[in-house]
Amino acid sequence: MKESTQNLENLDIQKMKSNKKRFLTGIKPTGEVHIGNYFGAIKPCIEQSQDKDNEVILMCVDWHGLTNKNEIFRPGELSHPLIALYLALGFNINDNSIVLQSNFPQIQENSWYLSCVTASGMLERSHAYKDALANGKTPTAGLLFYPALMSSDILTFDSHFVPVGKDQAQHLEYASDMAQLFNNAVKKNVFNIPKAIIQETPTLVGTDGERKMSKSYDNVIPIFSTKKELERKVKEIKTDSKGLDDPKDPNTCTIFQIFKSFASPQAISYMEERLKRGIGYGYGHAKKDFIDEHEKVFGAYREKYEYYLNDINAVRKLLRPGYERAHSYAEQVTKRAREALNLKNYW
Ligand code: ADP
Ligand code: TRP
Repeated sequence: MKESTQNLENLDIQKMKSNKKRFLTGIKPTGEVHIGNYFGAIKPCIEQSQDKDNEVILMCVDWHGLTNKNEIFRPGELSHPLIALYLALGFNINDNSIVLQSNFPQIQENSWYLSCVTASGMLERSHAYKDALANGKTPTAGLLFYPALMSSDILTFDSHFVPVGKDQAQHLEYASDMAQLFNNAVKKNVFNIPKAIIQETPTLVGTDGERKMSKSYDNVIPIFSTKKELERKVKEIKTDSKGLDDPKDPNTCTIFQIFKSFASPQAISYMEERLKRGIGYGYGHAKKDFIDEHEKVFGAYREKYEYYLNDINAVRKLLRPGYERAHSYAEQVTKRAREALNLKNYW
């Protein structure tokens, strides 16, 4: 992981309320979670939550999920399974928080304040909006305002560091630019300028062996699924025509490429050696080892996942302290914004 060198020099470390570095990251509840998500987003976030020097706020961004109006109920339905999955896989909820975006009206409020100091042309230049137009789609105003909402997710919680993939770098520039625009407009340091942490995780290939693993390409290996479904997906992994006893190159073997993103170091070297040697180790063997290792790594968490999935009250209890902490950050920041704007209160 490498810190980006964007225009972020103004990080106001003095404002940190505790000695912990406050990380905030967002994940959209939009579909079945796969090994690509695990490798690129979930595992790094869980590791950050296990570091005592960090305070991680993981936000399930259900409002962002609403930008696809054909699937308007999906984010609402998928947010709990996503939260259950993070908890089951080891997110440290004792010192950190998992929050649902739509439970924080302060985000919408600050998003409006940020929009009112931002030129509309800046939003029109966002990649997602421009791509939708270029592909002949009719983007909604929601998609246009997506970067303002995301900036507000970050700024409403006085976040210091925001770990994201490369594809989100532009959004992070927006967040610091909007914070700066607002601070300049009101001549006060209301919003903390966040720092992007651009994660350098390589992109995991899908079962087709060509494109990145993505639910949009239907080439994914799920994290939690029935054995039957997993077997069906693993069967789909593309291989070349090398025979049982031919030496095989692990670097071009899609089974191995996906395998090494989740398997234990011992299991990785076991498969690597056998592929290279060939003799008596064909793709069928590699696929069987893949399924066994998948069960070993993720099977242990399935019971926990199902427990959290089916007991929303148990999850609510676990999330409560983090919610209260996050709520107090959001209240403080929003109060600063209102006061700086000279908004009155008769309530
Ligand atoms: P999908 O492409 O299946 O729609 P998302 O865009 O919802 O996945 O992915 C959420 C996050 O998971 C991404 O921001 C990225 O960090 C990570 N991710 C998704 N697919 C991959 C992949 N194939 N390799 C590495 N990371 C990935
Ligand atoms: N736009 C991000 C994505 O598509 C998700 C997101 C929303 C986010 N709000 C955020 C990420 C705040 C980091 C911080 O992946």
